[in-house]
Amino acid sequence: MKLIDGKQISASLKEALKEQVATFPARYGRVPHLVVVRVGEDPASVVYVRNKAKACEACGIRNTTIVLDETIPEEALLDKIHALNADDSVDGILVQLPLPKHLSEAKVIETIAREKDVDGFHPYNVAGLWQKTPHMSPCTPKGIMKLLEAEGIDPKGKRAVVIGRSNIVGLPVAKMLLDANATVTLCHTRTVNLPEVTRQADILVVAAGRAKMVTADMVADGCIVVDVGMDRDPDTGKLCGDVDFDAVAPKAGAITPVPGGVGPMTIACLMENTVECFLQRQ
Ligand code: GUN
Repeated sequence: MKLIDGKQISASLKEALKEQVATFPARYGRVPHLVVVRVGEDPASVVYVRNKAKACEACGIRNTTIVLDETIPEEALLDKIHALNADDSVDGILVQLPLPKHLSEAKVIETIAREKDVDGFHPYNVAGLWQKTPHMSPCTPKGIMKLLEAEGIDPKGKRAVVIGRSNIVGLPVAKMLLDANATVTLCHTRTVNLPEVTRQADILVVAAGRAKMVTADMVADGCIVVDVGMDRDPDTGKLCGDVDFDAVAPKAGAITPVPGGVGPMTIACLMENTVECFLQRQ
């Protein structure tokens, strides 16, 4: 079994970005600027947003974090986004999800200027992914593809199984695996006999949001297992993934840990997308 070290792979990505960004002041007179908006105090979001700010610092990217009250009216949030869209000093805008229930995520996402959409969530960028026209790619699926590439794993001709059909991970990673010439099966909560399907996988990507749901009987020997989960272990209260790591790892050909697998890659790709938005706006 090979442990896929997302922390290390993301560190070298960020190092390369840092060197690139260091050349920008001389060439463009400034560095890229990412604005992260958090609404409310969701504990996971507090941690994620802090990690994004830290990554910006490590890469030499300017970061502004805006914290808004969880009771903010939708109009006020949209006004804030319009102001950031119009602000020429801002290259990337990220509104941390999930949002409080009274706010429409769809409306918020489509309000962000598509040229500043570092998440790749805007309908224009989603369409670009599915139509293979130029677009910003969503960070987590992009990070997963980079992990596979860094490990020398070519999806071409392989059977890839994805668990989870979210707009943020499941759907776009399925499309990216398809574009990399894998044969892709997309599973979800209504899939009948899930273990039978997952046992066919050469590559298994799990983005279900359920702690330790993938057990040893669900994976074939040698399977590449990518765990996108960020869950709490119900027994220990510790951070864990969607994969029962201790049981699955001995069977896997390679596997990502939680933490230290996909998570750091998501953030590194956010930094890359911020630089890309910056360069496109020059
Ligand atoms: N919440 C969980 N993942 C993400 C992400 O990639 N971007 C945003 N904006 N919110 C998230």
